Amino acid sequence: MKSVLSSVVCRLSSVYMKGIILAGGTATRLFPLTATTSKQLLPIYDRQMIFYPLNLLVKAGIKEILVIVAPDFSGQYLNLLGSIFERTDIRLEFKVQTVPRGLADAFIVGEDFIDDDNVTMILGDNIFEDDLSREIKSFKSGSKVFAKKVQDPERFGVVKFDDNMKAEIIEEKPKKWISDYALTGLYVYDNRVIQASKEVKPSDRGEIEITELHNWYLDKDELEVAMVEGVWLDAGTFDALLDAGNIVKEKKLNENFDPRINQAIHEFNKELKALAKKRL
Ligand code: TTP
Repeated sequence: MKSVLSSVVCRLSSVYMKGIILAGGTATRLFPLTATTSKQLLPIYDRQMIFYPLNLLVKAGIKEILVIVAPDFSGQYLNLLGSIFERTDIRLEFKVQTVPRGLADAFIVGEDFIDDDNVTMILGDNIFEDDLSREIKSFKSGSKVFAKKVQDPERFGVVKFDDNMKAEIIEEKPKKWISDYALTGLYVYDNRVIQASKEVKPSDRGEIEITELHNWYLDKDELEVAMVEGVWLDAGTFDALLDAGNIVKEKKLNENFDPRINQAIHEFNKELKALAKKRL
């Protein structure tokens, strides 16, 4: 009763933060692995990739999380995540993105789920070494994005800073070098992101680009950029997938999970073993 009351008070007294994991897409760079399962269900050492972005949101205190998935493998997500958090305060919802229309589509697909709240969105194939909870918890309004210095900025949305390290220009996959700072797959927005997403026109590659949202906030001087200091992995290619598993093992990132997630995985494993025994 006390926890129900405190969550009601919390919802009334401050703006609430919801979470979205974007785990759709076609993952063509990982064919043929992704002919039989979703990229975000592939293993990173001892657990499925999706647990990493999930852990980041849960550690940041986010309890209501929407997992957006592609139609082909939606049942596999339900098998894995559909009931493992039943005995916790973590609530997962699932929604299918019928066509991979682009990252900004998360806020259109997730409109009803977000409702009147703020939202933190993370890409389902992104793994962060840093604990970014404080950055997410301190968010008030506008948007907050996370940058990391990289060697191949042309592959990402890139941010150019002025002399005071204030974001000046944001460009999607710039053909001409503007900066070494890539924007990672973690984004925090206030509720206006739903409306802003609906205004984005598809780019030349036919996607509604998240960069457009950042420019929408940047134009209003309401975009903050936080720095990622530790390892940031985007496990979208064979090499990146292999590196991710090795780095997770080497840095013991799999041991740094929220206890609710660890417990849920542990119980799920126990259930699977018991079922396997029965079948013998
Ligand atoms: P990408 O890696 O850009 O795309 P992809 O996963 O389809 O892979 P590939 O380029 O190899 O074909 O997507 C980044 C993340 O966002 C990934 O977790 C998939 C997700 N995504 C969606 O869920 N819906 C979308 O419309 C897009 C474009 C990506």
